[in-house]
Amino acid sequence: MTNKILVIGGTGKIGSELLTMLEPIAPSVRVLVRNQEIQSVIKNKGFDVALGDLENPNTLTHVFNGISKLFLLTAPAPNQAGLQKAVIKKAKEEGVKFITRISAMGIDPSSENPLSEAYLAQWHYELEKYLEDTGLSFCHLRPNFFMQNILAFKPSILQEGKFYGALQKGAQISLVHVKDIARVAYHVLTDTEKHMNKMYNITGPEALTFDDIAREISLAIGKSVEYCYVAPEQLKKSLEVQGIPDWFVHDKLCFFKGYNLGYGKRVERTVENLSHLSPTSFRAFVGNFKN
Ligand SMILES: NC(=O)c1ccc[n+]([C@@H]2O[C@H](COP(=O)([O-])OP(=O)(O)OC[C@H]3O[C@@H](n4cnc5c(N)ncnc54)[C@H](OP(=O)(O)O)[C@@H]3O)[C@@H](O)[C@H]2O)c1
Repeated sequence: MTNKILVIGGTGKIGSELLTMLEPIAPSVRVLVRNQEIQSVIKNKGFDVALGDLENPNTLTHVFNGISKLFLLTAPAPNQAGLQKAVIKKAKEEGVKFITRISAMGIDPSSENPLSEAYLAQWHYELEKYLEDTGLSFCHLRPNFFMQNILAFKPSILQEGKFYGALQKGAQISLVHVKDIARVAYHVLTDTEKHMNKMYNITGPEALTFDDIAREISLAIGKSVEYCYVAPEQLKKSLEVQGIPDWFVHDKLCFFKGYNLGYGKRVERTVENLSHLSPTSFRAFVGNFKN
């Protein structure tokens, strides 16, 4: 079959939601996986599965046969730009016509916006420009901070009833559920003509403070939860003690700085505009926080 969609990153948070949505057209979707056990799980759902690893280009020889559209994401890591540039280059050589990739909100270089100083932001921006320069049709998907990031606070919430961060009191973020990001990607991949050469910011339905989030989690788990502000220097020390890599410590501080200046609070209507569905609220997301 020609004109297939290739999904790279289909086993991750956004990708697995996307595969659920693509299941009705599974035979026209190839999924790249690097783990044999997962290969059979995805195959059993009707998808065409290719085994390969972006870090080993020799494994990608036949992956692009018959592919016209590519959905691309890899984990947030320093090899992101290198891996994805190589894939974009190969996709073009192999005749792919359209690429949509997960980028991030707030990455346009700006001396005023600290979000854009994060390494992840710089890598995403570099990749967006690289993709545009290939001359292929594209759609940049720029999600805001994921609701799922809040799950990192679960251990301290369940143990102490507290969570810690450098988001100032009153600063807001329009957190987004990964399912809504996948929903936008689904529409872009299945109704592509409308979305060619566009860029979409993807947010949740409302901007919330970490105090709002503490309140929602309290309601969901039936136990008082408090958000505790930590100064950035203190957060930096604690992340370093936990062995978080320097680049990621730097990025976390840039994110908090940007959010404190209001760069993460914009609410966009991309999810409604493309899917005619309301994006998931934090209250709905947090309903199963205990599980
Ligand atoms: N977290 C946030 O708040 C946020 C906000 C905006 C943008 N983003 C962006 O979102 C992206 C991450 O999305 P996510 O959280 O859904 O990703 P994720 O859960 O970390 O999943 C990463 C996916 O990439 C695949 N992958 C990684 N390296 C690979 C390789 N060498 N070969 C083949 N596949 C490979 C993984 O496969 P395996 O299952 O085999 O590992 C997995 O399917 C990043 O680009 C990040 O910058 C995140």
